[in-house]
Amino acid sequence: MLDKTDAKARGFADLPPVEPDSLLALIALCDADLRPEKIDVGVGVFRDGTGRTPILNVIKKAERQLLETQTTKSYLGSAGDKRFAELLRPILLGEHAYDERIAGLQTPGGCGALRLGFELIATVNPHARVFVGGPTWPNHPPIIRSVGLDLVEYPYYDRDLGVVRFDDMIEALSAAHPGDIALLHGCCHNPTGADLNHEQWAKVTRVIVERGLIPFVDIAYQGFGRGLNDDAHGLRGILAACDDVLVAQSCDKNFSVYRDRVGALFVKTRSPDATSRAMAHVHQRAREMWSMPPDHGAAAVHIVLEDNQLRAEWHIELDAMRTRINAVRQRIAAAHPRLAYIGGQFGMFSMLPLSKEQVLGLRENYAIYMADSGRFNVVGMSDDQVDRFVAGIAECLDG
Ligand code: LMR
Repeated sequence: MLDKTDAKARGFADLPPVEPDSLLALIALCDADLRPEKIDVGVGVFRDGTGRTPILNVIKKAERQLLETQTTKSYLGSAGDKRFAELLRPILLGEHAYDERIAGLQTPGGCGALRLGFELIATVNPHARVFVGGPTWPNHPPIIRSVGLDLVEYPYYDRDLGVVRFDDMIEALSAAHPGDIALLHGCCHNPTGADLNHEQWAKVTRVIVERGLIPFVDIAYQGFGRGLNDDAHGLRGILAACDDVLVAQSCDKNFSVYRDRVGALFVKTRSPDATSRAMAHVHQRAREMWSMPPDHGAAAVHIVLEDNQLRAEWHIELDAMRTRINAVRQRIAAAHPRLAYIGGQFGMFSMLPLSKEQVLGLRENYAIYMADSGRFNVVGMSDDQVDRFVAGIAECLDG
C-alpha cells in the first residue's frame, strides 16, 4: 500500500507491471500466429462447423427491427431495459419466475452481474468468505478479490478421472461458516465441463441450507448443456430451498452476442421488502461502476423474447448450437480411450490431462491454441480440424 506522501510523489510510470489475463493473452497469441492451419480452441466462443461465429438469424432480424423502430437512445437508468430482465425470468427461474422475493436488473454481461453481486455481498458482510471449487473460470478470483472478499478454494475436479471431486466439495462446504458464500456454476462448468448431477445438486443444496451459506450461481451457458430447463435445474432447486440467493446470468453465449455484453443479476431475499432494500444497494453500486448498462444487445434479445415467432426460432438456433457441441464431444470421445470422459461432459469446455509443457508443445508444433491449464473449447475448431486436433492430443497422451 502507498502512503499518502508516497502517492503524491509517484506518477503513472511508477505503476508495477500486471500479469496479463491468461485468456485475453491467449487470444492475442493465436491472432499473431500466421500459420493457416492453426486451431483456436482457447477462448470460449461458439464456432459452427465451418469455423465461424455467426450472428444468429433471430438477432439479425431483431437488429433490423430495432433500426427501423427505435425512436430514441435516451437514458434508461441503472436497471437498463427492465422488460429484458422480466422476459428472462421464466427462462432462467422457471417456476420461481413470479416470486416477488426475486428481483433482477440488466448488467454488462455475466461478468458485470458477478461483480455487482459480490459488491452486494461485500456491502452486507465484508467478512464473508467465498468458497470456490478449483479450477474455476480464471476471472472469478480477481473479481472476488477486487471487492475485498477472501476466497477459499477447494478441489472440485479430478483431472485424471475427468469427474467432480464431490466428497471434497461437500467437505469444504460443510466447513464454511454461516454467511459465507458458495459460488456455483449453474451448468456447463467452465473450465472442466464436469457438472453436478441432480442428486449432487440436491446434496449441495442441503449442505448450503444446513450451514446457512449464501449461494451465488453463475449461469453463463444455459441451453448449451442438456437444454434450457435441465441446465437451470440446480439453480431452481437452490431458489426453492434458500432465502438469500444471487444469480449471475449471461446471454452472451446463448444469443451469441458476446461483444454486446448482455447479462443480468437476480437477487432473492427472504421478503419482497428486503429484496427492494437489497436492490436499492445494487442500483447504487451499478450507478457507481457503469451508471447504466449498454442497451443494444439487450434490446435485440428483448425483441426476440417478446415475439413468439422469433422466440421459437431462437430455440431452434440454440438447439443447433447444443447439437453441434455434443456431436463434436462424441467425435473426440470416440477417438481415444483417454478422451472418452469428454463425451459425458457438458458445454463448451473440457480439460485435457496434459502438462503445461505439453500444451505449449501443441502450440509450437501443431498450432493448437488452448489455455495453459489444458482447457479447450470443444467447438473452437471447425469440423475439418477435429481429426488433426485429436491426432495432436493423442501424440501427447501416447508419447
Ligand atoms: C471464456 O471463459 O473463455 C469466456 O468466458 C470468455 C472470457 O471472458 O473469459
